[in-house]
Amino acid sequence: MNILVTGGAGYIGSHTVLALMERGHHVVVLDNFSNSSPKVMPRLEALAGNPIPLCQVDLRDGDTVFDVLVSHKIDAVIHFAALKAVGESCEQPLQYFDNNVSGTISLLLAMQKANVLRFVFSSSAMVYGDTEHETLSENTPRSANNPYGRTKLMIEEIIQDHCAADTNFKAAILRYFNPVGAHPSGMIGEDPRGTPNNLMPYLCQVASGKREKLSVFGNDYPTPDGTGLRDYLHVMDLARAHADALDYLQSQSKNLTVNLGTGSASSVLDMIHAFEQANKLKIPHEIIGRRPGDVTRLCADPGLAKELLSWESRHDLLQMCADAWRWQSKNPEGYNS
Ligand code: NAD
Ligand code: UD1
Repeated sequence: MNILVTGGAGYIGSHTVLALMERGHHVVVLDNFSNSSPKVMPRLEALAGNPIPLCQVDLRDGDTVFDVLVSHKIDAVIHFAALKAVGESCEQPLQYFDNNVSGTISLLLAMQKANVLRFVFSSSAMVYGDTEHETLSENTPRSANNPYGRTKLMIEEIIQDHCAADTNFKAAILRYFNPVGAHPSGMIGEDPRGTPNNLMPYLCQVASGKREKLSVFGNDYPTPDGTGLRDYLHVMDLARAHADALDYLQSQSKNLTVNLGTGSASSVLDMIHAFEQANKLKIPHEIIGRRPGDVTRLCADPGLAKELLSWESRHDLLQMCADAWRWQSKNPEGYNS
């Protein structure tokens, strides 16, 4: 198939481009580089062994998106492009609704006009909000507690309404838990701008000496060691799930909503210990207060992804930590290294 990957220069998108090309698909990347670097492209081409057409376009420019869909004879779209920082979304909610929600509507309208009928969407465990549930299945009630999460909820509903109205249009909604790690080559990985918000990139920068120590946000949560629990999954497993979801849309011609996680929860201290063990180094850290907006525990029930897609995570925490560190240590300044 000819597949357009929006946000294909970003962290998860870049890994997915390779997973799709490995299955023989032709991929076109669309990105405005608002949170990524064009320098990822030659690395992707080297890893794939093939050129990858790149369109520097903003999603909200629907006419140009339509031209891209038609000129590249696109059969399916995998839609990663979005802004994703929770804190920033509270400060600039309108920018988030415009970029994420209006951007998706503009893309879907362009797809409708170009008669492109297959769509895979990056949703998030954020759609479950602050929940008491131990593990989250797809029918756990949804309620987002910040503007970023609300953009994902709204887009899910827009997609469902569109699917109901046009039964030829088939969509997969994939709710990611906490993707970490990097391609085993160490050539592509997560390249956050400024101070990382997330645990794994911060851990990597402490390990490289770029940051003095890791602040552990709270040890008074009702968890075995008091620190927050998350379901971390390897980005390579997540990338593969997109190719699987596309196969499902093609072979079953049904819509799909699945959680993507490992089904096991790890604490912040578990992650520090795994990182130290995998990479044979020490992570200086101190416990500080909770981060506002954090939830105690987020863990997927990945049963439906296994049942429908035969998808399961294959990498353990040690591999996630080893691959994240390989990327960081080979590229201390990310794509500017
Ligand atoms: P990322 O920021 O690395 O990638 C997103 C890409 O989209 C970037 O390259 C950015 O330049 C591009 N982009 C943003 N707005 C655009 C626009 N209007 N037009 C064109 N390009 C645009 O993020 P990521 O971590 O790879 O996340 C990918 C998707 O997965 C996002 O939708 C995110 O919300 C979702 N998600 C991510 C995580 C995570 O932990 N990383 C968890 C759950 C869901
Ligand atoms: C955060 C985002 C979420 C996003 C996800 C992946 C918030 C509130 N949520 O989720 O929208 O989908 O990242 O991009 O920002 N931690 C520390 N010290 C740190 C960083 C994190 O102790 O320096 C802890 C956190 O308190 C949490 C765990 O590590 O318990 C994981 O944090 P993080 O990687 O930021 O992911 P989420 O909080 O799940």
